[in-house]
This record gives sequence, structure tokens and C-alpha cells, in this order.
Amino acid sequence: MHMTLRPLLYATLASTSLWAQLAPSGLRCEYLTDPMGIDTPNPRFFWILQHTQRGASQTAYQIVVSGGNEVVWDSGRVASPASTQVVYAGKPLQSGKIYSWKVRYWDQADQASPYSAPAHFDMGLLTASDWQAKWIRGGNQVRKEFTLDAKPVRARAYVAGIGYYEMRINGRKAGDHVLDSPYTPYDKRVLYSTYDVTDMLHAGPNAVGVMLGEGWFASRAAIVQIQVEMENGRRVTIASDATWKSAQGPILSDSIYNGETYDARKETPGWDRAGLQDAAWEPVSLNDPPKGVLSAQMMPPIRVVASLPALKMTSPKPGVWIYDLGQNFSGWTRLKVRGPAGTAVKLRHAELLYDDGTLNVENLRTARATDVYILKGGGEDETYEPRFTYHGFRYVELTGFPGTPQMDTLTGEVVHSDVRPSGGFSSSKTVLNQVQRSIVWGIASNLESIPTDCNQRDERMGWMADAHLYGEAAMLNFDMPAFYTNFLRDIRDSQDDDGSVPDTVPRARFARGPADPAWGSAYPLFVLYMYQRYGDRRILEEHFDGIRRWTDFLTSRASDGIVSFSKYGDWVPIETTPGPLVSTFYYYWSADIVARVAAVLGKQAEAERYGKLAADIRTAFHKKFFNPDLNSYGSGSQTSNILPLFLNLPPDDVRGASMGRLRNDIVYGHNTHMTTGIVGAKYLFPLLTRTGNSDLAYELATDTSYPSWGYMVEHGATTLWELWQDKTGPSMNSHNHPMFGSIGTWFYEALAGINFDDQEPGYSRIRIAPQVVRDLNWASGTLETVRGTVSSSWSRSGAALRMELTIPAGSVAEVHVPKLGLNDVVVEEAGRAVWKAGKFEPGVAGISSGKETASEIVLEIGSGSYVFERAGN
Ligand code: BGC
Repeated sequence: MHMTLRPLLYATLASTSLWAQLAPSGLRCEYLTDPMGIDTPNPRFFWILQHTQRGASQTAYQIVVSGGNEVVWDSGRVASPASTQVVYAGKPLQSGKIYSWKVRYWDQADQASPYSAPAHFDMGLLTASDWQAKWIRGGNQVRKEFTLDAKPVRARAYVAGIGYYEMRINGRKAGDHVLDSPYTPYDKRVLYSTYDVTDMLHAGPNAVGVMLGEGWFASRAAIVQIQVEMENGRRVTIASDATWKSAQGPILSDSIYNGETYDARKETPGWDRAGLQDAAWEPVSLNDPPKGVLSAQMMPPIRVVASLPALKMTSPKPGVWIYDLGQNFSGWTRLKVRGPAGTAVKLRHAELLYDDGTLNVENLRTARATDVYILKGGGEDETYEPRFTYHGFRYVELTGFPGTPQMDTLTGEVVHSDVRPSGGFSSSKTVLNQVQRSIVWGIASNLESIPTDCNQRDERMGWMADAHLYGEAAMLNFDMPAFYTNFLRDIRDSQDDDGSVPDTVPRARFARGPADPAWGSAYPLFVLYMYQRYGDRRILEEHFDGIRRWTDFLTSRASDGIVSFSKYGDWVPIETTPGPLVSTFYYYWSADIVARVAAVLGKQAEAERYGKLAADIRTAFHKKFFNPDLNSYGSGSQTSNILPLFLNLPPDDVRGASMGRLRNDIVYGHNTHMTTGIVGAKYLFPLLTRTGNSDLAYELATDTSYPSWGYMVEHGATTLWELWQDKTGPSMNSHNHPMFGSIGTWFYEALAGINFDDQEPGYSRIRIAPQVVRDLNWASGTLETVRGTVSSSWSRSGAALRMELTIPAGSVAEVHVPKLGLNDVVVEEAGRAVWKAGKFEPGVAGISSGKETASEIVLEIGSGSYVFERAGN
């Protein structure tokens, strides 16, 4: 009893006067919590400051990194506010070694915090020569038995496949990754995973077995290296080589698009355990190693993240059962069945049903999305779920079932890159919440080691415009930096000598020639987003040359500052926009990003050169596309005006007029509707908010008539569609295409009002500016930033407005309290006036200054939680 009370007491003391700052928490290395197998020679550290006082900050830190008993880096006291992106600067880190680290910090009063609890990171295999294993192939099962002469104290398995693998040791699956290895440009990088398999091995005979699937590579090969340290101090390495054996297992066929066929009668019991009579197994063949370098998978792996029970079961025809799982998602079905050996149970997956209740697979195009399970029989329940395929679906058709199935015969297994949810948005408006939910499901089901365009048909590619258009919404809803760090490497690895990048990354059959500029600009845009939202400077260093070469490629295609080359432009619009206008917009932006990145990196000459290029493109853009008679750009379509206005391309004297023209086109020309495709849709919302048109943005965001997001959810969408139209049939009409999900950014940034500051990125400085619009009574957003949680909620009743905020320690914020047309505004914080009679009232902890503008009271605050109440006449 006393033993457990004491730490509690200690914690309470620590949180009051003795230590106002608690130990740092949320320690991460390379954005990951206790990562296994990283191969960055000088990884970066992140921690979250904990402090009980408002306005807390860090003035210095100390990091200690140890490997075993040796301290490999003691930073000593470093005077710095940095609690993110802190680069390791100790002795060289060694392959295969575990390190632990801890950190403490000094606050604004120079008080040291206690040290954090230790965190860990585990180095992978750092050089090619660390790999003794060989790539092997054979049937779709390979195995090896080996004997350990003592109990392991530590064992790591390093495994990669081209395409998929499942590794099993002594009868159990190692780890919880599925659909591993990730999809990368295999000729440049092949990602291996690292597993802690200490507890799976024992003294005596052991066995490792690996099942192989086609995956994206349409090949079956793997490399496995298990490094074991034993109680007696001995080290042993078990490595895939020509002595491994192979056979054809129960998976008769597997394909990502088409599904898996599994004949349970062909299982070999005990194949993944020691002691198998394996005379019938053949030696494996050595496979030529893929060209790509073996690199550590340093992002959340794909996992089964949830199970969905069926909501409804119907039988539209004899012997045909249709299950409704209630949600469009990525993954597969888990089947429970009992029956005679050889019975083939078939599961087909689709997003849609026909009116008669049968399955509609037309929009899957050639993807068969069919799994077949052939029973082994024997009177026991059998459960099956596929390993090497996934489907995008809401409905499952079950046929060939022996007997009558039940509701719980099937469950949906939700499968995607296991990125942690990092945010939340909700509001008083139901339709917004439904759209938010569809965005979140749509994004999650399209994170399958790369950001995909869709999850169901014969595509599922890293289409680059789709990726960058929903990228920021993904960063708000999920913990994305490690995922996009990897994707940026994929982009870099896919770049051609001429600087061009493909439309899909990895480059695949749809991506011919250089990308459409709106697609390829994903490269500079993701670099920019990583810097703005995570303060990631290393990304700038790593990719400066790549984004510069991409911009130079566009220059090579430009004439007089205009890039006329375009393939898709403002894709899937209601009214089209000239392709060259869209391409030149992205050309300008690419040049501008290169200039800004150069400035951050201190590359003065390049900053000037690309700044000048951007200015020239801006001039050329206006000259080419502006029609002074109409005060309008391009064809006069909404997107034609949104794009230049969004990036401030119009000269000052025409900006107002072209904004007016855009507004009129939306409100009067189209009865408050949008005509944009995916490109215009993304930039319209921040543009409207920045120009004082949040009410109009809200009307568009909450509309339920065609075309709108509300129209989709009112017509049954549980994830956003590819098209504004409610279309079915064999043509292009995916019902899970996250690219229109860009509006999710506006929910957090405008409605909840949580914004980063470009000058002090990574939410070091935060701008809280909620838009209190029309009939919206409250909105609430939370965001786990790299520095800790930011939250902003507001509600109003009558003329009163209440704002509740949390700002993480180490960050500062400017809070924009809207006056909403009131005079004699009073703002109180927890009952004490901070703004009154037209001036700032000092004295409330954490609030340092205030000022008044025509429409707002702007307060400067430090970290902590606040409750503001605003009143007035
Ligand atoms: C994909 C898109 C992609 C487009 C290129 C489609 O087939 O699904 O979302 O961006 O092709 O225009």
C-alpha cells in the first residue's frame, strides 16, 4: 500500500510548488515512439514540456543517451528553446544496438525539471555489409529450423519482402504488421521491418517460416536475418540462404486487386515449428537482390486497426447473403465457418448495391475483390482472413456457405497504415460532422504505406495531386510526419534525371512521362507542409535539390513564364479551367517554395534567383490570363480566379475586383454553389476566410444540394466520392476518394481556428482565429502537435461568446476574439477583465498584451488553459 502511495505523493508534490515543471513526456525519436530499427545515423529527438504555470517555456535542455552502460551522448546543458527536431550529436550509433535516452529542461525561471522516464530507440542494420542474409524465393512458403544452445536474452529479426511476407516463429506470427513490406520504388529502396522476437525463441530447436505474397512487386521473395544474443553471451545469426526449404502452401493465388484463394486442406500443420518431416520440401532458390537499398521502415506499419461487426444481413437471392458493415473502409473480411472439407466459400466485396439488394461491383473495373476459402472440414469452426490482399468496401457478398450464416459469421477488419489519430473536430452543425467523419475514414483508408487515390478499384496508386490536396487534412487528423517523410523519399527516388517526377509515386502503369504540374508539385508542397506543421528543417535540407530540380524542369517546359503543358488540371470539375493556368499557378508556387526554402537554409543566391523567377512568373501569369474587361482570369471559371487570388498573384489594383467577380459567380452565377474540381476546391476555403467571406464558405460547406459535400453524405456517402455527381456504373466513380477532403483543413483552421504561423513553424507560435459564422453555435478542435496539445473550442449564446483554449508549454499564441459587430467589448478570462473600455487590462497570468482592430480583440498569450468570455453592446 505504502509502496504504491509514495510515487503518487511525489507526483502531487512535483506538480505544485516544488517543481512547477514536471518531467517532459511524449518522448519521440524520428517522430516515432520507441522505434525499432531506425537507420538514421543522427536521429532527432522530440519531447513535450509539462508545466503547471501559464506562459511556461524552455530555456535549456539536457539529453542523455546511453547504449548499455555506456553514455554515448550527454548534451550537457544546452541553452535553447528547442524541444523538437533536436539532432543527436554523440558517438556514432551502432548497427543493431538498443539505446535509451532521457531529457530534462530548464524553464523560464531557470528551474530544472526532473528527468523524463527513459525512452528507447533501436538501431537497424546500418550498412549493406551488416546483411549476411540472402534474398530467397521458391514456393509461397519457406522455412528453416535451427537450434539455440541457450535461452536468448535479446533477439531481433530484420525482414523484407518484395512483395508481401508474413513471418512466423515457433508457430506464431512475429509482430503485428500486415501487408509488409511497404510499397516503395523497389529499384531505389526496399524497406525492412525490425521485430523484437526475444520471447518467441527458446533454447533448443526452433523454426522460422515465411509465407510470401505477390504484393505490389508481383513477385515472391524475402530476406530474413535474425540476430540472437544468448544468456551465455554467445551471438548467433540465422539468415535466409540456400539452406532454407520451400513448398507451395495453402494460398492458391493472391493479388492485391483480385483477392486471395486459400485451400485449408493444403495447410501443413507444424510447418512453422521445429520437428517437421520436411522431405517433400525443396531447397529455395537465391533471388537476385532487388536494385534498391535495404532501408529501415521508419513509419507506422500497416496493421489491422479495428473490427467492424455487420450491421445488417439480407438474402436477395437463394444462397446469396449480403452483409452491410455500415462504413466504406479498407481491409478484408474475417470469416467463421464450419462444414465439410472442400466446401468453397466465396466473399466478394463492393462499395455499392443494386436496388434489388445484390452486389454492384461495376465501379471496381477489373479488380475482382474476391476471396475464396476452401474448408479443411473436420467438424470444427474454421476462421479465415486473407493475408496478401485488401479491398475497399462496405458490402460483402457471401456465397457457397454451408448452411445458414449468422450476423457474426463475418466481421470487417480495418487495415491501414497505423497512424495515430492526432486531432478531432466537431461542431453544432450535423452535416459538418458527417463530412468530417467521411474525411477521416476516407483518408485513413487511403494510407496504405503510400497515400493512395482510392481503395477499391484497379488503381490505388500514389496519385500525387490527390496526395497533396488531402495532405494537410491528413496532417490535422493523423500523426503523419513519419509517413510523409517516407513518401518524400519515394518522390525523390522517383525523380528523373531531367528533374521531372511521375504522376504517381511509386511510378506505375498509369504514370506516363512527366507529371502534370499540378500533380508533380506535390514534391515542393509536401516539403513546405512538413516545415510549416512540424518545423522539419531536415526535410528542407534533404529535398532542396530535388524541389529545385523539379522547378527547373518546369522552367525547361515554360515559355515566357507560362507552362502550357497540362494533363488533368483542375480535375473532375463542373466547369473546366484552362490547363495552362493551373500549370502556371503551380509553376509559380514551386519557384516560390524553392526561394523560401533557400532563405531558411541560408542559401542567399538561390533565394534571390528563385524569388526573381517567381516574380517573373507572377507578372507573366497576369499578363497572359487576366481579362481587364471582365476583371477575371482565364475562362472566368471559379478556379481560374481562385488560384491567382489564393497566392496573391493579382496586382493590388485588380485584386478586389477579381475577388468580387469570383464571389458573384458563386453566389449569383451559381446560386451559391461551386463549379470547381479538386484543385479549386482546396484553395477556395482559406481564400474566402482570409478575405472576410467565412459566411459564404460556411454556406458552401454546409450545403446539401448538388454539388456539395453535404450532397454526398445525404446520399449515403460514408467516405467522400471521386465525383460531385451521384454516379454508379462501370465508369470512373469511386466512392472512397479522399481528394475532396481538403476542406477538412478549413474545419480546424477556420471553424475551430487553430493555425500555425509561417514565421515560427511547427506550432511554436499559434494563431487562434475562430470564425463565428451564421447559425453555427459552437465548434471545437483539438490537435496533437509536435509540441503538445492545442485545443480551441467556442460557443455562443445570444451576444455572449465563450472561448476555451489550451496552448502547449513552450508555445505562444495570438488569440483573435471576434467582436461580431458589438461595441464596448469586454473580454474576461475566468472572470477577470483582460480587455475593457477600449484597452488591455494587464495582470492576468499568461496574457501579455492586447490590441483592438476593426473586427477583433487580439490577445497575446503564453501556454496554459484559458477560458475567455466576451460581451458587448
Ligand atoms: C485517379 C485520380 C487521379 C487521376 C489523374 C484517376 O484515375 O483516381 O484521382 O488523380 O486519375 O487524373
